[in-house]
Amino acid sequence: MSAVDDACALLATLTDAEAVGVWSAPGRVNLIGEHTDYNEGFVLPFAIEHRTVAAVALRDDDVVRVASTFAQAPVEVDLADLDAAIARGGLDWAAYPLGVAWALRSAAPDASPRGVDIALASDVPVGAGLSSSAAIEGAVAGALNDVWAAGLDRVALARVGRTAENDAVGAPTGIMDQMASMLGEADAATFLDCRTLEAHEVDLGFTAAGLRILVIDTLVAHAHSSGGYAERRASCEEGARIMGVAALRDLDVADLPRAQELMDDVTFRRVRHIVTENQRVLDTVATLAAEGPRAIGGLLVASHASMRDDFEISVPELDLAVDTALAAGAVGARMTGGGFGGAAIALIDAELVESAASAVSAAFAEAGFRAPRTFTVAPSRGAARDA
Ligand code: GLA
Repeated sequence: MSAVDDACALLATLTDAEAVGVWSAPGRVNLIGEHTDYNEGFVLPFAIEHRTVAAVALRDDDVVRVASTFAQAPVEVDLADLDAAIARGGLDWAAYPLGVAWALRSAAPDASPRGVDIALASDVPVGAGLSSSAAIEGAVAGALNDVWAAGLDRVALARVGRTAENDAVGAPTGIMDQMASMLGEADAATFLDCRTLEAHEVDLGFTAAGLRILVIDTLVAHAHSSGGYAERRASCEEGARIMGVAALRDLDVADLPRAQELMDDVTFRRVRHIVTENQRVLDTVATLAAEGPRAIGGLLVASHASMRDDFEISVPELDLAVDTALAAGAVGARMTGGGFGGAAIALIDAELVESAASAVSAAFAEAGFRAPRTFTVAPSRGAARDA
């Protein structure tokens, strides 16, 4: 069964009311530009074909009830108690959809909030660093935007998703994932300036070049609401403060020698990752246009090395995945997403996908790591109303 069928079947267990619509939003792969979003820099993600679906029915009262095929039981909150429920916390997975309801209501004061049943189903791998959370946020934001007549545009809906993630879930993330999920297009990536939120499509040309994106999910769990992610963010803010700039976006490679003089080694290396990564995003966009996708491999590899050595967010499983994919003939490879686990991606010829996946599995077995999950993804359309 598809995620649409699953969501509709789940909705039917909640209510006799007909669905008023079905909305969906995808997960994403970030091609390059990691941890640059909250530094007001550049990113180049693309939406993938894996999606979260929200099937919605109207209620006669003011209760928002959310259910998911991944969860044991539905969670419900009366709209009158929503602010208090979010402030109290402890909503677990329901903080994502209810956080969106809460954030959307305050972003759209002219909307007409009303009671709804929302049933969620998803085929976005959870915990792989492919933004299963942004997919939930995008599907629910799209649904409530229509059902509550909120009239928000896609960028505003991405902001609603980030507010839910930051203030209801408690993960201090940037806006890349929500923007990628909202704006995706087939065979294209979204270039995003995270300061202005100006975005444009960048043709990837993977299909025409016979290339695929192989995802290697290490199954090493990560959570951005705890620990390392927030620490990295704090180091970046400290680096910007020392350099007297609003955000690390305001520095370029020529500023690095002065940064090195002014700060401790760890903060400097965090700063160097962000500054060089921003440049790599710009270089990737220029290289794709001038020379095509086969020419970006070196930039992907340099990005991974920077995350491994300077930003220190890789793990041995991700490094092994990248090294093995490259040895198996990938054009380029890097970890993708927030790090500390999750997935690596390899840009690779279609006919090498299978042998590279086998080589990675063999290398993991040899190293005593848990068997990884490997699959290809294609740049795909963003959030939409499906029915
Ligand atoms: C997570 C966050 C994003 C971004 C990436 C790292 O996916 O949700 O905002 O910071 O990590 O690039």
